[in-house]
Amino acid sequence: MGLDQAATKPHEALASVLAEDMEAVNTLITERMASEHAPRIPEVTAHLVGAGGKRLRPMLTLAAAQLCGYEGPYHVHLAATVEFIHTATLLHDDVVDESAQRRGRPTANLLWDNKSSVLVGDYLFSRSFQLMTETGNLEVLRILSNASATIAEGEVLQLTAAQDLRTDESVYLQVVRGKTAALFSAATEVGGVIAGADPAHVQALFDYGDALGIAFQIVDDLLDYQGDSKATGKNVGDDFRERKLTLPVIKAVAKADEDERAFWVRTIEKGKQGEGDLDHALTLLDKHAALVETRKDALAWAEKAKAAIATLPEHAIRQMLIDLADYVVARVN
Ligand code: IPE
Ligand code: IPE
Ligand code: MG
Ligand code: MG
Repeated sequence: MGLDQAATKPHEALASVLAEDMEAVNTLITERMASEHAPRIPEVTAHLVGAGGKRLRPMLTLAAAQLCGYEGPYHVHLAATVEFIHTATLLHDDVVDESAQRRGRPTANLLWDNKSSVLVGDYLFSRSFQLMTETGNLEVLRILSNASATIAEGEVLQLTAAQDLRTDESVYLQVVRGKTAALFSAATEVGGVIAGADPAHVQALFDYGDALGIAFQIVDDLLDYQGDSKATGKNVGDDFRERKLTLPVIKAVAKADEDERAFWVRTIEKGKQGEGDLDHALTLLDKHAALVETRKDALAWAEKAKAAIATLPEHAIRQMLIDLADYVVARVN
């Protein structure tokens, strides 16, 4: 491998292999995010979609379909569907989390208002369903509509688990599997299904997406404490301010002494936060190696993802998906 290739991040390698299909996906996204009757819709969608995003999920669908030898046109519709669902959840998520920054830009809820974000999010959800029906494949409809329900379920579960110090790692896993991994696993699964792959291969693709999505969200939660906002395009400390029991905090709470517990009760349960509290939280996370342990968990999920896909036949794209699992843990944005 040449230096240039070695320096290429796995998702860039995938992106370049899938470039032609991705272009078709982007064209379809641009076409379908428009609206004839409500100018607010293209304003909001252009703001968010125009800011880019890593396009990881649609790449997963395209990659899975190609890996399984698909030669028809519908993987493009499915990839666009997946990105529409993702974009809709981001609009809703930033309202729920009261976030101010996304993809390096002020959030839509900040620039316009919550009402616009919720309604345009609903519009995008509906557009995603229109798109997937065009494939005429009931099985992919079942998978993607299940995933949408599961994502919403995960977000609602998180709502009730937040601010509650009894939230443990098993509840956390359930939240993450729902709100994030469900779309990753649906993205890879529908790629296999549309290609007519055999059930064992579809299962392997599902398992890969599930484990990859969990690793991805664990790292997202790490970056919320130790990331660089310039790289992530999101504010650091959002989860602490929102009083979320993410994996680093769950690990530190489990090891807290009496004083430390009082700190978590005040800041997370009671929501009484002041200047210096985020720094103190970071000190406690460091003291109990909570961030280090969290990263180890993410690595273990990435290994699971790789093991799942290792059962598929040898293929250049399979190797890129294996490398992608490493990237997901190492990523800074
Ligand atoms: C953000 O996902 C939401 C999470 C599940 C953490 P991404 O980090 O993939 O967002 P974009 O699309 O690249 O902005
Ligand atoms: C991501 O939730 C999952 C969904 C958008 C459904 P987060 O709230 O953890 O993601 P970020 O950090 O805002 O991207
Ligand atoms: Mg959020
Ligand atoms: Mg959220």
